[in-house]
Amino acid sequence: MPTTPDDLKRAAALRAIEYIASGTVIGLGTGSTVRPLLALLGERLAAGALRDVVAVPTSEDTATRCRVLGIPLTTLDEHPELALAVDGADEVGPRLDLIKGLGGALLREKLVARAAKRFVIVADASKRVRKLGTRSPVPVEVVRFGWSTHLAFFGKLGAEPALRRTAAGAPFVTDDGHLIVDCRFPRGITDPRAVARALARRPGIVEDGLFLGMAHVAVVAGASGVAVLKR
Ligand code: A5P
Repeated sequence: MPTTPDDLKRAAALRAIEYIASGTVIGLGTGSTVRPLLALLGERLAAGALRDVVAVPTSEDTATRCRVLGIPLTTLDEHPELALAVDGADEVGPRLDLIKGLGGALLREKLVARAAKRFVIVADASKRVRKLGTRSPVPVEVVRFGWSTHLAFFGKLGAEPALRRTAAGAPFVTDDGHLIVDCRFPRGITDPRAVARALARRPGIVEDGLFLGMAHVAVVAGASGVAVLKR
């Protein structure tokens, strides 16, 4: 029987939900791989198999889904320390370095991941790469003021930058009111840490989608089963 992408996402969710314990405050990520996990968490809370789990959502989209599923929500301000954060990724590279943010939620995702004692990634095997940047661009969130002044700078870093747009052609605006420039590295990223340092130093850049040294575990579902990778 063929294994569909949805089958893989469900398989990853079934394994990853084991990391969620009753009586904890957790971060919940954004994207299509996290969605089956949200559904499963909602079911287990409703059935009483999990109790007293409160979540900080990483996007308005995830918050809306949690409300529909009956998952109680809180904020990072009320709970600055989280037992766990579970999120998807666009690339899972060596030592569980990641690219995230194709869903546009990278800023809140990085804040939530940073606040969590344990950061668990759910992904299907297509997300695994030997070199970061070979599959996905690096999303970079920038303030609107002077956004285009960053394009030449991204070019000097070796990227081909493109302002993210909606399907209707308007600039994509994040939950926090910023723009995203997707930086594609045609040959991948040789030194992700150097790129991250350069991006962090530049005024006007709010956050980037390089999540380096942050993930503790990646639950990766493939046609031959679910692998649990540790950093
Ligand atoms: C959201 O901003 C991203 O970081 C997601 O975690 C990432 O895009 C993975 O999404 P999918 O699970 O839909 O591939």
